[in-house]
Amino acid sequence: MIVTTKKLFEAAYGKYAIGAYNINNLEQTVGLFRGNLQSKAPFIIQISKGARSYTDKLLLEGLIRSADEVFPEAIFAVHLDHGDEEAAMDCIESGFYSSVMIDASHEDFETNIAITKRVVEAAHAKGVVVEAELGQLGGVEEHVKVDEADAKLTDPRQAKEFVDRTGCDSLAVAIGTSHGAFKFSGSQSLHFDVLAAIQKVLPGFPLVMHGSSSVPQDEVKRINEAGGKIKGAKGVDATQFRKAATLGVTKVNIDTDGRLVWTRVHREFFRDHPEVFDLRKPGEVFMQAYADFIAEKNDYLGSTGHLDEVRELVSK
Ligand code: G3H
Ligand code: 13P
Ligand code: ZN
Repeated sequence: MIVTTKKLFEAAYGKYAIGAYNINNLEQTVGLFRGNLQSKAPFIIQISKGARSYTDKLLLEGLIRSADEVFPEAIFAVHLDHGDEEAAMDCIESGFYSSVMIDASHEDFETNIAITKRVVEAAHAKGVVVEAELGQLGGVEEHVKVDEADAKLTDPRQAKEFVDRTGCDSLAVAIGTSHGAFKFSGSQSLHFDVLAAIQKVLPGFPLVMHGSSSVPQDEVKRINEAGGKIKGAKGVDATQFRKAATLGVTKVNIDTDGRLVWTRVHREFFRDHPEVFDLRKPGEVFMQAYADFIAEKNDYLGSTGHLDEVRELVSK
């Protein structure tokens, strides 16, 4: 069942965070649904602009609609990840997305507000909810490159004004994470002080943490042992998700870790089975590995076991 992120956040706020996972293809879709049902967790499917154009946005939508039928117990939101105004409007018009992100965080404060406001007005008119972003993460996003050194943490004083003036439904905040597999050069960690200050001015308001992959070191080691060359990769400590949830983080975005699972499975598979050329063989291994990975993430987020309670809430 497709619901808005707003509904999911009502259930989770202050207690646990909902996993927001990016998908691009059939195997990820199946692994995602299986993993969330395995752990009885509500979840968010994220679709980036890149994912929409990888094959065709309609094919990806079709996959999700079919998965909704194949896995009728699943409860999830369908969310555009890092949309610009054009993509956000297209998703709102499509009638398929329950939630969009407008990411104008690279613009100045006033321009970010103006763009976000336009998207919020169009979205709310169609019952779609909106995530906006204030502050800048380090790392590489689809349409914006920001050096880690230039990453700007969210200013708590601006956060309230931004939410009040835009009417957005949730806010992505920059609290020290960045996208991709190379998040920290040193032993940096999350800026809980900044998060607490934001929650203080926006009590009860859902916050979103992007760039939340953990880049597990054993995964990186296995990839490298199977022929990969990923050096110095480092991510967020997943044991910090629960604390972030108590401080208002209700959505945690994870993409890179799923890509690492894909890379590990396929590198090891072809190393260990050089005679195989049936694409379904590694596909089967990947779907199970991806499901297990999702279930493990949900344990860290605290969303495991909350599906029935969310079902009750959405049926009211
Ligand atoms: O934050 C970006 C997500 O990891 C999506 O990545 O734009 O390469 O699909 P992508
Ligand atoms: P990671 O690169 O840490 O997985 O972050 C994904 C993300 O923020 C998607 O919006
Ligand atoms: Zn992101």
